[in-house]
Amino acid sequence: MEDERIISNEAQDDNENKIEKTLRPKFFNQYIGQDDITEKLNVYIKASKQRNESLDHVLLYGPPGLGKTTLAMVIANEMEVGLKTTNGPAIEKPGDLVALLNELQPGDVLFIDEIHRLPKTVEEMLYSAMEDFFVDIVVGQGPTAHPVHFPLPPFTLIGATTRAGFLAAPFRDRFGIIERMQYYKISDLEEIVKRTADIFSVEIQQQGTHEIARRSRGTPRIANRLLKRVRDFAQVSETNEIDIKIVDKSLEMLGVDSEGLDSTDVKLLESMIELYNGGPVGINTIAANIGEESDTIAEMYEPFLLQIGFLKRTSRGRVVTEKAYQHLNIPFINKD
Ligand SMILES: Nc1ncnc2c1ncn2[C@@H]1O[C@H](COP(=O)(O)OP(=O)(O)OP(=O)(O)O)[C@@H](O)[C@H]1O
Ligand SMILES: [Mg+2]
Repeated sequence: MEDERIISNEAQDDNENKIEKTLRPKFFNQYIGQDDITEKLNVYIKASKQRNESLDHVLLYGPPGLGKTTLAMVIANEMEVGLKTTNGPAIEKPGDLVALLNELQPGDVLFIDEIHRLPKTVEEMLYSAMEDFFVDIVVGQGPTAHPVHFPLPPFTLIGATTRAGFLAAPFRDRFGIIERMQYYKISDLEEIVKRTADIFSVEIQQQGTHEIARRSRGTPRIANRLLKRVRDFAQVSETNEIDIKIVDKSLEMLGVDSEGLDSTDVKLLESMIELYNGGPVGINTIAANIGEESDTIAEMYEPFLLQIGFLKRTSRGRVVTEKAYQHLNIPFINKD
């Protein structure tokens, strides 16, 4: 199953979801990295608390596993307000939305994950809710049907999406705060690995921490997962303290290479090289060649390969860079 990819940035099962809950930072002082975003949010939160107003609506976007859900929870905690969590596909009709909004206390946060997957009718109802805190609903059927103006308490909508480009412009414009989540720096991931190791009560040497951080694709979820698996290997081999040797050995067995790539990444790059001389190739063609959905490639694989400079985007498609050829040990012939 594709979801079983060790370095998938998506949560894999209920057990992992449970563990993530215990690892989730609750306040800004525990939230590591994303400094640009947290500094600004801290100011906005302080200011709106001083004015006794609800925080402006927030849109967070970026690849999975970078801490969007976590950040939404931190915002609610820092605002000292309640939080309701749902996701786009779960709100099937306008009535579902009204029910959710109806339960909010003044100032509360409504978090909608995968907000790009909201049905259009629900999205349009959100326009007035976000802008002026009311919804107009139709009550009754047939000749007795009549519109009802339904006032709402002021609230903060936090939307999360992996694809900000999929949101309609009028919807996007109603978020006062729009932030793109970045891949984490290695030093931040080291801190996250150390924090998680502490929570798990496992001993890990600095070099081991560094290696896990380096090979987790800039993604906290992956860093935590790799640490968990390495801990298993260490335990079975009766290593009390995780060192670089056990990290190397475990990650090799897990099929995570020295740059954090797995066999699918390698297959993607190699097929571009073998079949198209390194590109340019369109994303749909790449997808067809390696038997993946093009959305999956666009959301999960490509952003990281672009980030580490293994792929380049051009007007005619994706191109494999010289750096990737070197990593794969394939001779690079300059085509320029
Ligand atoms: N800034 C952070 N500091 C420490 N740990 C973090 C941070 N961000 C995320 N994590 C860890 O990574 C895990 C995944 O984060 P989270 O669920 O918030 O990601 P997400 O962006 O919402 O992912 P998805 O797009 O799949 O919903 C969390 O359980 C948390 O332990
Ligand atoms: Mg999430």
